[in-house]
Amino acid sequence: MTSFWSIWVIVLTLACLALILGLLLWNLKNYVGVEEGESCGHEFDGIEEINNPLPKWWTYMFFATFVWAVYYLAAYPGLGNWQGLAKWTSSNQGVTSLAESKRATEEALANGEKVQLDQEIIAADERFGPIFEAFAKQDIETLAKDEKALEIGQRLFSQNCAQCHGSDARGGIGFPNLTDKDWLYGGSPDKIKETLLIGRVAAMPPWKAALGEQGVKEMTAYVLSLSGRKVNQKDADAGKAKFAMCAACHGMDGKGSVAHNLPFGAPNLTDNIWLYGGSQRAVEETLNNGRAGVMPAWKDILGEEKVHLLTAYVYSLSQDK
Ligand code: HEC
Ligand code: HEC
Repeated sequence: MTSFWSIWVIVLTLACLALILGLLLWNLKNYVGVEEGESCGHEFDGIEEINNPLPKWWTYMFFATFVWAVYYLAAYPGLGNWQGLAKWTSSNQGVTSLAESKRATEEALANGEKVQLDQEIIAADERFGPIFEAFAKQDIETLAKDEKALEIGQRLFSQNCAQCHGSDARGGIGFPNLTDKDWLYGGSPDKIKETLLIGRVAAMPPWKAALGEQGVKEMTAYVLSLSGRKVNQKDADAGKAKFAMCAACHGMDGKGSVAHNLPFGAPNLTDNIWLYGGSQRAVEETLNNGRAGVMPAWKDILGEEKVHLLTAYVYSLSQDK
């Protein structure tokens, strides 16, 4: 905030407070020249105005709120650029990266500042740390059958993953369904954990330039035919003839990276399960412009122990119950 606006806010706030105080004091006075409980001499439709000042307890409450307001404004930041006597800070003001955030937190804690959220996180880590630690020692297949572990896993999922994968983990356009057995990067405990720890960035290149409009149409026909859809056979054959350019990632049979033990995250194109939609238009869009789904990395955000529990939860979703 520039100092002009800071002063502006301070003056307006204090003026308002003074005005309220004045109003309160003014209203405490008895009506001039009239005894308490007597008529002020005004009457409207038979309703008389009696000289009744505010009750004492009510007035004291008013004063108390006033004192509170002054204390609060003095102690905490908010009044323009005033930082407050209590040295309270929201932990991460002006911070733009995780590394900066960690540094800011450590500094603030070292200076004994009241970084409330971070202190709560530290307290929670102390309290729940041993629980996560105990779970971290068990293998994922065991945890995937442990109700308590899954309960915590589900909570972590709701907090961190549901906004992209949906609260039921069934995903949406561009966000994979985690409850089926169709995997981009592999569904073994190790592969899921790797996905969560380091994140994934998909790179399906655009093919508009290489294939041209007709080529994209033919390739789309072939891709749809792989999932058993009815297509123009001539187009599909022409697409098939060029499919070698896709095989490096999707495999010559189109069954995807996982089926061929490749690291690219290229989906199986033969199972009629679509990450970006299976309409002719959606597939053409994929081929024309490419796709680049991004799964964030969680190692630094959640830590390995929470990721371990989340892995068990995600793994459990696609296991037969
Ligand atoms: C910002 C959105 C976003 C968030 C948040 C997110 N994901 Fe993802 N996730 C994705 C996208 C997009 C992909 C697919 C990447 C690709 O296209 O290759 C993905 C992929 C995955 C995969 C790989 C699926 C496969 O088929 O191999 C798993 C497992 C996964 N996410 C689990 C999680 C978990 C658990 C969390 C919470 C800790 C989470 N995701 C949070 C967007 C997100
Ligand atoms: C460099 C590796 C690579 C090559 C080569 C490649 N793809 Fe892909 N493809 C991917 C990846 C990775 C994805 C997943 C993109 C994402 O998750 O954002 C993908 C996604 C797709 C999808 C979307 C599937 C769905 O479920 O929505 C289609 C269709 C597709 N590719 C077809 C092709 C065709 C046809 C070719 C050849 C012309 C091809 N790809 C070449 C890596 C590749």
